[in-house]
Amino acid sequence: MITLGEYIIEKQNDFPEASGELSSLLGAIRLAAKVVNREINKAGIADIIGTTGVENVQGEVQQKMDLYANDKFKTALEARGEVCGIASEEEDEFIAFDDKRGCNSKYVVLMDPLDGSSNIDVNVSVGTIFSIYKRISPLGAPVILDDFLQPGDQQVAAGYVIYGSSTMLVYTTGNGVHGFTCDPSLGVFYLSHENMTIPEDGQIYSVNEGNYLKFPLGVKKYLKYCQEIDSATNRPYTSRYIGSLVSDFHRNLLKGGIYMYPSTASAPKGKLRLLYECNPMAFLMEQAGGKASDGEKRIMEIVPTELHQRVPFFCGSNNMVDDVQLMMKKHT
Ligand code: AHG
Ligand code: MN
Ligand code: MN
Ligand code: MN
Repeated sequence: MITLGEYIIEKQNDFPEASGELSSLLGAIRLAAKVVNREINKAGIADIIGTTGVENVQGEVQQKMDLYANDKFKTALEARGEVCGIASEEEDEFIAFDDKRGCNSKYVVLMDPLDGSSNIDVNVSVGTIFSIYKRISPLGAPVILDDFLQPGDQQVAAGYVIYGSSTMLVYTTGNGVHGFTCDPSLGVFYLSHENMTIPEDGQIYSVNEGNYLKFPLGVKKYLKYCQEIDSATNRPYTSRYIGSLVSDFHRNLLKGGIYMYPSTASAPKGKLRLLYECNPMAFLMEQAGGKASDGEKRIMEIVPTELHQRVPFFCGSNNMVDDVQLMMKKHT
């Protein structure tokens, strides 16, 4: 039985220049994940479900758990001192950790502290997503916006926590995707899924089909393709949509499939946020052998211009992402 802590230290030796700071940072995320997990498990008996009545910068009403998770991850990351600043779905602007160590820390973290938060009230799996970069501004100086606006292919690590029927932490540092399952009686994450890979072909498509009439023509055609009967390609495919990106992604990663959040007539850039939802998931998906695209090009090559920028998202098994891209190209 290998614990997450042991695994991180063991893998640190794969990077000759590693000084242990990234390992310590991942340790901070692990700690906050355990605290949030404990609280989520009490949803229903503690006064932690429901909304705060306040909207975040993207016009969504914040849930109490959104703010709780945001606060716990922020505090853990600041306390560990390996991070000079963070950006979060629940914070309008990036936050500089300007304590004595802060300006000398080389990493920034972008996060979705609670993903799928509207599901918490109904006991459905939610998650946390994180993305880690080296800052580009000089050490010793205050962190700047450009440190956060780096393309996804510059990520040094990314991952998610899924608070599901069991709680798992899945991460990559560019050396494969590894999953750890929490033993709740000990509060320890054990290696359970080393080198996760997604099948080239999948049988599951995940999309909010309520938006069908607003989708681009190519996406509509692809959905019809998924539903057609054809024994050679094992169609119709199965439709599965939880409404928590982390949960839908996790299932597709294990079984093969595609997750789609296309542009719609009313939201031309889709709904999901590039920096703390799509980029980290794209990094994981590529490391697992799959693809992540905005419908035309690779997600991780997009140069961000805004912290809370949205982007259409197509992510999953290679051949499925290729198919939807082809249909979108054909029906522009
Ligand atoms: P968040 O809870 O962090 O705001 O993210 C919600 C996202 C994502 O988790 C999910 O896949 C998607 O919104 C669901 O959107 P729809 O309800 O529009 O399908
Ligand atoms: Mn939200
Ligand atoms: Mn989210
Ligand atoms: Mn969220």
